Amino acid sequence: MTIDELIGALERLIAGGAELSTILETAVRELHETHQRFDWTGIYELFPDGALRLGPFVGAPTDHVFIGVGNGVCGTAVAERRNINVPDVRQVDNYLACSTETRSELVVLIRRGDTIHAQIDIDSHSVAAFDEQTVHDVELIAAVLARAYDAREAGAGTP
Ligand code: SME
Repeated sequence: MTIDELIGALERLIAGGAELSTILETAVRELHETHQRFDWTGIYELFPDGALRLGPFVGAPTDHVFIGVGNGVCGTAVAERRNINVPDVRQVDNYLACSTETRSELVVLIRRGDTIHAQIDIDSHSVAAFDEQTVHDVELIAAVLARAYDAREAGAGTP
């Protein structure tokens, strides 16, 4: 599935009223397959208590199921409200190792304006795995997922 095809598939799920969990699982499963250098692909959701909690993922299980805002690359992205592309994690002090094989990491926020819902986190065993086009692809998926969160909020409270 290409990125465009994945966007179409996710948009159809949103339009059809699919559960948010189904949309997130589909996004992670299919996004992981779009780039050979993605070795771990997952979503962390931001909870009201300020902790990131691991949602669906593809790859090796991680100890980092909960990450506080400000901790690691994931928590720093939320604290600084920006996407983070780390070409070589060995150069980062504030890094939480998921696998000793990880060399580069990309975190893209799933957000609507100031509201951060979640983030897409991708690890690669290759140094500098995330070029401009790859980052753009992941940003497109994050934008669709932000709409899925919006759809859930719009539907909240309706029978
Ligand atoms: N490396 C991340 C932790 C998550 S694992 O990579 C899956 C971080 O530094 O926040």
